[in-house]
Amino acid sequence: MQKRRLGTRGPEVSEVGLGCMGTTSSYGPAPDRQQMILFLRSAVELGATFFDTAEAYGPFVNEELVGEALAPFREQVVIATKFGFELDPTGERELVGVDSRPEHIKEVAEGSLKRLNVDAIDLFYQHRVDPDVPIEDVAGAVRDLIGEGKVKHFGLSEAAVGTIRRAHAVQYVTAVQSEYSLWTRGPEAEVLPTLKELGIGFVPFSPLGRGFLTGKIDANTTFDSSDFRTTLPRFTPTALEANQTLVDLLSKIGSRKGATPAQIALAWLLGQQPWIVPIPGTTKLERLEENIGAAEPAMLRELERVRTEGVTEEEVARARAYVAGSLAMDRRSNARHAWYLAFYEVVGVGWDFPDRYARAVEMVTAADVQAVAQQYLARPTTVVLQPRR
Ligand SMILES: NC(=O)c1ccc[n+]([C@@H]2O[C@H](COP(=O)([O-])OP(=O)(O)OC[C@H]3O[C@@H](n4cnc5c(N)ncnc54)[C@H](OP(=O)(O)O)[C@@H]3O)[C@@H](O)[C@H]2O)c1
Repeated sequence: MQKRRLGTRGPEVSEVGLGCMGTTSSYGPAPDRQQMILFLRSAVELGATFFDTAEAYGPFVNEELVGEALAPFREQVVIATKFGFELDPTGERELVGVDSRPEHIKEVAEGSLKRLNVDAIDLFYQHRVDPDVPIEDVAGAVRDLIGEGKVKHFGLSEAAVGTIRRAHAVQYVTAVQSEYSLWTRGPEAEVLPTLKELGIGFVPFSPLGRGFLTGKIDANTTFDSSDFRTTLPRFTPTALEANQTLVDLLSKIGSRKGATPAQIALAWLLGQQPWIVPIPGTTKLERLEENIGAAEPAMLRELERVRTEGVTEEEVARARAYVAGSLAMDRRSNARHAWYLAFYEVVGVGWDFPDRYARAVEMVTAADVQAVAQQYLARPTTVVLQPRR
């Protein structure tokens, strides 16, 4: 697998990393520990060198598992972990709040070093911003740990741009980790432009929509009571049904390109910026191979081709029809996502390119949408549209 640099000064890591959260908990009953050790080692053999864990996963046991599994490959891998939650001392609940007091950060670092069985933490993220502790104090604590050689790089998770800038002014932020995928696009508005400006890498978590974008989950899927998704509104049958259009479209795009929906979802993320490194989570070797396949040169070349070719009038017209159709079909869910996906359907990763994107947006008016949607739905294959000049 090819490598990407996390931020301008960060480490080089495999283009697709591995989220390790599910190897001990979160999505159903805990998998067999020994099997997960073998699984993580196979991941290295398949070329993954970027592994994501946290003190809070388990808590503690995920770091222990990752540390044990990756010990034979210490020099080859970059292990990211996270601090900043207050854990329940009774052990009955996993997390009771946030705690990024500098003294607590330093305690967590000592614990993580032991559990991961490493001399230095490669990347230490604040898991959630703590409203009671100024971010400058947090960055200062991590700067001290870096000075002591206990931490190599500083990261933030789910931080807004004001926080990122303030932290970065105290200690260089190597990477920000937040949810980002085809159905969660919040970071595009402010975070990604800020990271680009500051030279900070971006690590999308839940890049497969917690499994939904793979096409393996639908409104009839039932989850084990220990599965975290039972608590998420987006995994209610109604929401899953409403969003199914998005996954169907991914499947359609995938079938044309010889790829699975998961691969299209990941290739799309990889196509956004060269400093984005998704960390899909899985506990199954065949799925890991599939996810890593999203970074294969052929897939990326395809994205590159789309990137460098202009959009023809015909493509814009087709985009208009698809958009209208998708909007009409998808009114119950998220029209904006439908738009993005429809545009992808026609020109690949187009919306990363503001001029092309703006041009297509400009061509779709509310009246167009209504008129075209009716035609599109009535006779979807025969609609011909002339772009407005
Ligand atoms: N910073 C934060 O606050 C935060 C929050 C959430 C997650 N994370 C990190 O991000 C990582 C990834 O996020 P995530 O695990 O929440 O979501 P995800 O990567 O979007 O999806 C994981 C789910 O998808 C399934 N899956 C993976 N590949 C698949 C494939 N090819 N086909 C079908 N199903 C597939 C997995 O099941 P199987 O295991 O059965 O394959 C799992 O249930 C986590 O492991 C964690 O390290 C960070």
